[in-house]
Amino acid sequence: MDWRELYKTKLCTAAEAVTHIKSGNAVVLAHCVGEPPALVDAMVANAAQYENVEIKHMVSLGSGAYAAPGMEKHFRINPIFASANTRGAIAERRGDFTPAFFHEVPKLFREGKLRADVLMLQVSPPDEHGYCSLGPSVDYTLQTISSAKTVIAQVNANTPFTYGDGIVHISVFNHIVETDSPIYEIQPPKIGDTEKAIGEHCAALVEDGSTLQLGIGAIPDAVMLFLKNKKDLGIHSEMISDGTLKLFEAGVITGAKKSMNKNRMTVTFLMGTRKLYDFAHRNPVVEVRPVDYVNHPTIISKQYKMIAINSALQVDLMGQVNAESMGLRQFSGVGGQVDFMRGVAMGEGGKSIVAMPSVTVKKDGSVIPKIVPFLDQGSAITTSRNDVDYVVTEYGAALLKAQSLRQRAKNLIGIAHPDHRDELKEEFKKRFDEAY
Ligand code: COA
Repeated sequence: MDWRELYKTKLCTAAEAVTHIKSGNAVVLAHCVGEPPALVDAMVANAAQYENVEIKHMVSLGSGAYAAPGMEKHFRINPIFASANTRGAIAERRGDFTPAFFHEVPKLFREGKLRADVLMLQVSPPDEHGYCSLGPSVDYTLQTISSAKTVIAQVNANTPFTYGDGIVHISVFNHIVETDSPIYEIQPPKIGDTEKAIGEHCAALVEDGSTLQLGIGAIPDAVMLFLKNKKDLGIHSEMISDGTLKLFEAGVITGAKKSMNKNRMTVTFLMGTRKLYDFAHRNPVVEVRPVDYVNHPTIISKQYKMIAINSALQVDLMGQVNAESMGLRQFSGVGGQVDFMRGVAMGEGGKSIVAMPSVTVKKDGSVIPKIVPFLDQGSAITTSRNDVDYVVTEYGAALLKAQSLRQRAKNLIGIAHPDHRDELKEEFKKRFDEAY
């Protein structure tokens, strides 16, 4: 059958498509910008028909209406990364949370350790041969197309057609819903003086020819402000956002010195504005590949001079990093942080950096230090003290790798906020029987 004929047989409305979800099913939502809003809305509108449908995803940018109070009879959320729309439900025990390294997620679906009955995803319109692109999000989405029994695709004219591995034939979809609604966008963050100072300290650690992994937010964008005079940087990163575009347009990012995937920006997902998605559309420079390739520590370790820059909620005086929970309250997840920090540690010539402000100021005005004697009780240890090369705050860079517990505590106190150094020095004296 001609693919166009086949395509027509799969077309339906969103309301019809979600009738294929059954009570007790595990429904996987494609990641981040790949989440299909029309299908999620239709599923929530049909909630009365379901009992105990498990919802799984990593970063979710959608409404999360399935996690609202009262929905727990119909939906049981069980994400691998907590976002603004699911944190409350997890904390109120109306849902669960499953910790997992990002690079492992496809394998967990492949081996059936994570169940996927239905996958709902968003893709580009098909090309002339009947192939759609997964666009901004290939990560675990590509694997779950094979793992799920039912695959429902929202074909969206606004999804960019990206190159890499996320190009699939329409025959893999069981049901297709057409839309042309805007896809999720994240606006560039405001960069303040603190972030600029952190960015400058991080950039000083980046040598020409390095390959970068940067996350999203004000700190990664601030780092990029100070990389303008570097040469031949490369990108091998879980994700990129708009900040990376400026460095590419300025000729700083060439990828010419990468050990693998030379002259390409290798990522597993994209998250930014329309400008980024238009740039990535049919652009061979951007290759979007599965997360069990991009984030696999053994792959990362092959990139010479790999620089991983990630953030944290707290770092203790031994260099243990909590990047995901406030005590027992799950705030985010490990994501790709450990994938990259481990990959750097296994490779040669690289540096792993935890970059964060020295304090956080809460909405009620209270100031909380982020370099602490002990992590808050109940907090996750996201990255072990063995894997961190540097911790950077606005006060400088503290070297941890190959430093004794005494020396690393000293270095960390040196970059803590001045208002909190006395308390840390007292702990230092207690711990090492020596004045700081
Ligand atoms: N104690 C209590 N609250 C804290 C805190 C601390 N030590 N540190 C930060 N916070 C609060 C902030 O006040 C802010 O609260 P608000 O939302 O009420 O304003 C919130 O946590 C977020 O802080 P912010 O500094 O804006 O964090 P961020 O957006 O830069 O994210 C992480 C920082 C660590 C949460 C984030 O990088 C993450 O989830 N990392 C793990 C995943 C990862 O690294 N992936 C790889 C990169 S793609």
